[in-house]
Amino acid sequence: MMARIFSGIQPSGELHIGNYLGAVKNWVQLQHQFETFICIVNYHAITAPYAPVDLERRTHEMAVGLLAAGIDPSKATLFVQSQVPEHTELAWIFNTLTPFGELERQVAFKEKSAKQEQVMAGIFNYPVLQAADILLYLADLVPVGEDQVQHLELSRVIARNWNSRFSPNAPYFPEPQPRLTPTRRIVGLDGQAKMSKSLGNTIGLLDEPDAIWEKLRPAPTDPARQRKTDKGDPDKCPIIFQLHKAFSTDSTVREVETNCREAKWGCIDCKKSLLAGMVAELTPIRERATELNADPKKITDALELGSSKARKVAKTTIREVKEKMGLPLAVGGA
Ligand code: AMP
Ligand code: TRP
Repeated sequence: MMARIFSGIQPSGELHIGNYLGAVKNWVQLQHQFETFICIVNYHAITAPYAPVDLERRTHEMAVGLLAAGIDPSKATLFVQSQVPEHTELAWIFNTLTPFGELERQVAFKEKSAKQEQVMAGIFNYPVLQAADILLYLADLVPVGEDQVQHLELSRVIARNWNSRFSPNAPYFPEPQPRLTPTRRIVGLDGQAKMSKSLGNTIGLLDEPDAIWEKLRPAPTDPARQRKTDKGDPDKCPIIFQLHKAFSTDSTVREVETNCREAKWGCIDCKKSLLAGMVAELTPIRERATELNADPKKITDALELGSSKARKVAKTTIREVKEKMGLPLAVGGA
């Protein structure tokens, strides 16, 4: 059987270039080599306060962004989590096999719960649902950014716990491994924190060139480079050089490096050269998004096709899991 990959993304509306470089670009490449499932995880999204109309719009926008970035519904199964109820069914089962202490030490939980006055159980159990997402499709590989690695460790613990209880002789669930990119952690425009929608330090994947430039222009660079004549160190430039490595050709990256070290270019020259690389890669994506926005039925059709393909696999897994656990199936065969 062709190895399977699974990944998920929260419907936060517009994609940013951190999502794109850390995960989505990888999905677009991997969909040609693996059986690929990409899920817009709206049940994860409701662990933070939200307005229902916004969530629906953001889910649609995320689908537009993913398709525009190159997810091909005839290759990858792109779907919305709430349309496949087996995700929450398996999550409950996994809750019974997840050590409380493992959830308590999740860094993402500590960070998110610190921001909320009242912490709901859903945010604590978030990684259990994530394990269910992945294991429902018996996925081997999970292409994500670095921030998800700890969640995947927990998915492996859950898979192991379930296997040893209910399928000790032949492991049923694979232990999913992360698949990272060289750009596994993109720094935000503040030059410090991870690029993240909630921190407002993002460049949108669909931003117009002018908007990108407005964000790049004031972005911090090597702090030792006060004047154009000061020699710089690209490795101390928190964001621009990282983005050059992601968006510019190898020869441009070498040119940037020399010109910075020898103070032949100022940071604005360097940023202009980065803008050119970004515009070259992002313009076709933005144009595809405009086309898709003019044809909303294309999006609903793609998601419907995806949900029905995902549901077929999910139903089989749930049936086998419940059989092995002594849980009667629903009337009519689940
Ligand atoms: P999220 O928007 O949190 O649902 O993340 C979707 C995917 O993008 C996950 O695989 C994340 O690991 C990845 N991701 C999010 N932010 C970044 C970032 N700043 N750098 C690299 N990858 C990221
Ligand atoms: N937790 C992931 C994030 O915040 C989203 C996610 C949910 C996910 N389920 C998943 C990622 C399964 C990979 C696999 O980015």
